[in-house]
Amino acid sequence: MSTFKAVRVTQDGGKAAGVLTETTLDEIDAGEVVIASRFASINYKDALAVTGRGRIMTRFPCIAGIDVAGVVEGSSDERFKVGDAVFVNGFGLGVSHDGGFSERVRVPADWVIAVPAGMTLLDVGTLGVAGFTAALAIHLLEHNGLTPDSGDVLVNGATGGCGSIGIDMLARRGYHVVALTSKAESRSYLKELGAAEVWLRSELELGKKPLEKSQFAGALDSVGGEQLSWLTRSMQENGVIGAFGNAGGAELATSVFPFILRGVRLIGVNSNAPMALRQQVWARIATDLKPRNLDKIGFPIAIDQVIEQCERSVAGSVQGRAVVNYA
Ligand SMILES: NC(=O)c1ccc[n+]([C@@H]2O[C@H](COP(=O)([O-])OP(=O)(O)OC[C@H]3O[C@@H](n4cnc5c(N)ncnc54)[C@H](OP(=O)(O)O)[C@@H]3O)[C@@H](O)[C@H]2O)c1
Repeated sequence: MSTFKAVRVTQDGGKAAGVLTETTLDEIDAGEVVIASRFASINYKDALAVTGRGRIMTRFPCIAGIDVAGVVEGSSDERFKVGDAVFVNGFGLGVSHDGGFSERVRVPADWVIAVPAGMTLLDVGTLGVAGFTAALAIHLLEHNGLTPDSGDVLVNGATGGCGSIGIDMLARRGYHVVALTSKAESRSYLKELGAAEVWLRSELELGKKPLEKSQFAGALDSVGGEQLSWLTRSMQENGVIGAFGNAGGAELATSVFPFILRGVRLIGVNSNAPMALRQQVWARIATDLKPRNLDKIGFPIAIDQVIEQCERSVAGSVQGRAVVNYA
């Protein structure tokens, strides 16, 4: 049986770490659909899993990678046939089931989505979980009344995957986007994606008042911690925050005042959404939310570079999205 490369996370003496290895189909998890991988992106969660910096894997050993895009190589499910262009985001992939940092992936057919018309494997591979999460967050904010006329929308962790793609999608929809970043050198990148303003974290006074200056109609939060706490205090009346990240911390220190005096809404965003919602959001990603700058956001790496790239991701020093190219 032919061998192929994969990044498998093992645990030794309580410490998890990714190892580049050779494996076979016999050694990876079961499922109805075998996919020959073409692209898989590095998400923050992958970086935590591969570096052992976060408790992500629910079992060891397990191949990392929470998303993958590729071509069906074999299927015992009638919904998919050999040669179909498909992708998988989340479910147990790269957490409890062998994941996308692998030249071949085998998954339950219920996890598989066909690449939408008008999109390529590279598009969905670059978007991955981060792109879906940004889109889901925007979808939920709009469901809660946000429109481009409501006011400014802040996107933090702006140079990251969710942040970059969120900016691109919001700008396409006509929103006035304020990008908040720690990277002064990324100003022009963020403007090219469509940010109307770029704010530097080092120049921002977060304040301590229960209610700060009323500034934003909407926000996409990748960071959590003190930035999310500040956001709750800085929203306009009826402002809506989509909270999905904890890159800067898991705490939330605020009071009830933003909620009871300004009607601020804090909306949780979980990318492991039911399939019907995924399909609905992917239909939007292929149309009115379709990013215009994925070529500027994604950059290719080889599977041999995944481990070192994950180290850069947990250090917060990456601009855009590293995409493993298996071709
Ligand atoms: N809820 C869900 O289902 C879901 C789905 C996807 C992602 N997430 C979460 O969303 C967050 C972003 O994911 P991602 O894949 O887009 O990550 P990413 O590409 O690694 O980007 C994270 C960005 O956050 C900022 N950052 C990193 N460390 C920081 C720190 N210590 N303090 C403040 N800012 C920091 C940096 O942006 P700047 O330098 O520009 O500030 C960095 O580029 C992660 O926490 C991830 O786990 C959750």
